[in-house]
Amino acid sequence: MLNESLSKALNDQLNFELYSAHVYLAIAAYCSGESLDGFANFFMVQAEEEKFHAMKIYKYLNDRGKRVTMSGMETPNNEYSSVLEAYEHAFEHEQEVTRRIYHLSDLAMNDREHATIQFLKWFIDEQVEEESMFDSIINKLKRIDKDSNAFFMMDAEFAQRTFTPPAL
Ligand SMILES: [Fe+2]
Repeated sequence: MLNESLSKALNDQLNFELYSAHVYLAIAAYCSGESLDGFANFFMVQAEEEKFHAMKIYKYLNDRGKRVTMSGMETPNNEYSSVLEAYEHAFEHEQEVTRRIYHLSDLAMNDREHATIQFLKWFIDEQVEEESMFDSIINKLKRIDKDSNAFFMMDAEFAQRTFTPPAL
């Protein structure tokens, strides 16, 4: 049986995943406003991934007989001075997500809640991927610097990114 404090912490994370989707849609909108449709697509796909993360926790809480509740959210940052700045913000955001997932995992370990420890492993692996992806894109953007050809090639490459949801 999931205790109330762990269940509430998971519910908070579900809401934080939706906030992440909100953060990334705001970045997508900034990119669209700059006519960078490929980068906009990258962040729209990222927002889809975040919604999928939220639904994964939603299903888990339901499966464990817990009632999910939705909370309000902060206004995300809508203004950026460059695509690089937007990716840096996204990277910091993912690091915050990782801290939260680790905290959840600590709570589950303290409760010896093995099913939840197991459930959170997927998110721990996912965070390694997310952080590494943002880190490497930031490095590329820094190397590209003022080479506009390379920058627009990256925009074209990101126009191809798609999201295929795995089974929940
Ligand atoms: Fe996420």
